[in-house]
Amino acid sequence: MLKICNIVIVGGEGDLAFRKLYPALYSLHRENLLADCTKVVSFARGKLGLDEFKTKMREWTESSDYVREVDDASWASFQERVVKFDGDATKAEDISKLKAELGEDDIVFYLSTPPSIFAPICEAMGAAGVVNDNTRLVVEKPLGTSLESFNQINDTLFKTYEEHQIYRIDHYLGKETVQNLLALRFANIFFDPLWNRNYIDHVQITVAESVGVGGRWSYYDESGALRDMVQNHLLQLVCLVAMEFPARNQADDIRDEKLKVIRSLKPITAANVQSRTVRGQYSEGSVDQTLVPGYLQEDDAQENTSDTETFVAVKAEIENNRWQGVPFYLRTGKRMAHRYSEIVIQFKPVVFKFIDVDPNAINNNQLVIRLQPNEGIQMNMMNKVPGLSETNRLQNVGLNLSFEEAFEEHRSPSAYERLILDVTRGDQTLFMRSDELRGAWRWVDGIVNGWRETEQRAQKYRAGASGPDDALGLILQDGRKWLNFDHD
Ligand code: BG6
Repeated sequence: MLKICNIVIVGGEGDLAFRKLYPALYSLHRENLLADCTKVVSFARGKLGLDEFKTKMREWTESSDYVREVDDASWASFQERVVKFDGDATKAEDISKLKAELGEDDIVFYLSTPPSIFAPICEAMGAAGVVNDNTRLVVEKPLGTSLESFNQINDTLFKTYEEHQIYRIDHYLGKETVQNLLALRFANIFFDPLWNRNYIDHVQITVAESVGVGGRWSYYDESGALRDMVQNHLLQLVCLVAMEFPARNQADDIRDEKLKVIRSLKPITAANVQSRTVRGQYSEGSVDQTLVPGYLQEDDAQENTSDTETFVAVKAEIENNRWQGVPFYLRTGKRMAHRYSEIVIQFKPVVFKFIDVDPNAINNNQLVIRLQPNEGIQMNMMNKVPGLSETNRLQNVGLNLSFEEAFEEHRSPSAYERLILDVTRGDQTLFMRSDELRGAWRWVDGIVNGWRETEQRAQKYRAGASGPDDALGLILQDGRKWLNFDHD
């Protein structure tokens, strides 16, 4: 296997680098998962002095939820890998200097910078002649705000890199519970026969956040919940729930199957957008018993008339043999009551009711996959309530698997640990291919254009609520209701 000896973080003094990347790299170092020769290189304009840089790196690493502890000995050995290189990544001469310092070993370039400077950085890399077949490039969202802008960014990358060298991160794919979706589906025989329109009534995917957008208002205002969350994280979850068995457990076989799901999504356009989507925006309210400002009153809000959605609910439909007629209800929002991400597979009711069923327990069987927090799986099933009453009573009770309890002795790595490690191993399974992203943008563009053409406005919801009232209507119109097992 190829040994990657240099991981260069372009934008190495930025927020993402300190919050996620260095803590992840430290954990990989501590677990002996980096090759002996690997250097961790910060490539940035050098606003921080060396001491300040290293202090900040340690502080953020210590405060990471995923790092168990930072001990002096392993921190000192980690620091032997760390190189701080001050330079401008859009200038070929600075990249050449970096290369001279690093020698002939292969490089991963992790672009932790705004996409607006991907083009000059890639051009500078090309001009400096640092890219060979083994060089890898890691890029993060936002990769565009539409199909057109995604294509422009992608074309820029393709001038210097080929698809097999580009690792497009969707950090949801690095989460343990998201990876477990495939194991759950494909390694347990009892799900396979039921996993289709004959037995599944509908699917719900909720990614609720209690935080607001304060601190990144201007980015978010250009994006909104649909582009920030649905285009990538939620659609990837849809793919993992809906995809067919891949031919082999290999990157392109899995990505081929995900692509088919994206291509099978029924288009949402001006003709149906109002009955398929709901937009919301949080107003002042209280979360965790603390009063919080509305979206338009956030400290860094730049205008007070923005209609950007901070909540979105979508009824997605997959037009293929397995899923025809099985809606996927998706919702995500900021400033909701609790932070939780959950997938609910709602099975159809049994046909013959051999015992009178409590009308409140009509949803006989659900599989609930809790992605975060309280990671785990719950199977809800009907049981007879013990007792001697004349008529048998049934109750829906959950079989509950908590990952924390089941895998007590295992540390759950952060998404970034998994993803960075896979880049060094050359495994693209958990990274998005450009055709997947093109398909996702095409579908999302249909919704955005539909909203524009029909002038569909964002409805206000109080911070701390579960979205605007119409989100209830979206699912109620089909005779169903949102299910929430983490906080019911
Ligand atoms: C990011 C979005 O991709 O995902 C953020 O840009 C969002 O707006 C975040 O808060 C959520 O990630 P997680 O891992 O906290 O669920």
